[in-house]
Amino acid sequence: MDGPRIRLARDRADFEACVTLQREVWRLADVEITSAIQLIATTWAGGLVHIAETPEGRPVGFAYAFPALRGGVPHLHSDMLAVRPEQQKRGVGLRLKWAQRAQAAELPRTVPPPVFPRINDVKWQAGWPVSSDPRLDLEAPELLLEIPPEWNVLCQAAPRVAAGWQEKVRRAFQAYLGRGYLAADFAPTEEGGRRRPLYVLKK
Ligand SMILES: CC(C)(COP(=O)(O)OP(=O)(O)OC[C@H]1O[C@@H](n2cnc3c(N)ncnc32)[C@H](O)[C@@H]1OP(=O)(O)O)[C@@H](O)C(=O)NCCC(=O)NCCS
Repeated sequence: MDGPRIRLARDRADFEACVTLQREVWRLADVEITSAIQLIATTWAGGLVHIAETPEGRPVGFAYAFPALRGGVPHLHSDMLAVRPEQQKRGVGLRLKWAQRAQAAELPRTVPPPVFPRINDVKWQAGWPVSSDPRLDLEAPELLLEIPPEWNVLCQAAPRVAAGWQEKVRRAFQAYLGRGYLAADFAPTEEGGRRRPLYVLKK
């Protein structure tokens, strides 16, 4: 493909280039810049830095995501995306994001450790996920409510199972929202190749 190519940052010079790009793109004061050493440390800890460079090897953009933990769920937080002004509006930003997404999709995913109490449990019966009755008496700063993956598929293929889910999720939300909880986060977790989406309710 013509134009800049996208690759993972490899060495110190790549991370230094991200510092230069922060200055050029945002005109950040030094105190606000994410330093090369910080980029290296967070990449070492599981983050991703993608560089866009011209065929001659001149960096013209980067995308940065650092490893994060929220609601007990490990994930990548996509933090910065920058393309040099004269290279903008040519699809480079988009290609950086797609490269980041593809790389992230290759990382192993796990369901979070059960650090917060679960409102419901899910079992698979005849190929469909089925929720237990929701526990409505839990008291903790954060609670997990699991919902079925592939909701549209479930509605079409097993409408009665879907209706059962809807009734249980509604009961749980009514009880906990009524007691001051918020649906504060959503954790798209996975276990054994199965998606296990969770709402994180917080008070
Ligand atoms: C945002 C940025 C990285 C986009 O890079 P780019 O190479 O110009 O983007 P692309 O050419 O791939 O454009 C992708 C799409 O995003 C859109 N887009 C660009 N900047 C946008 C913004 N700030 N908000 C919403 N959409 C934006 C473009 O219009 C384009 O959409 P279109 O194809 O429908 O027209 C670039 O404009 C930039 O460096 N901006 C300054 C830094 C910044 O604001 N970064 C984002 C926050 S961390």
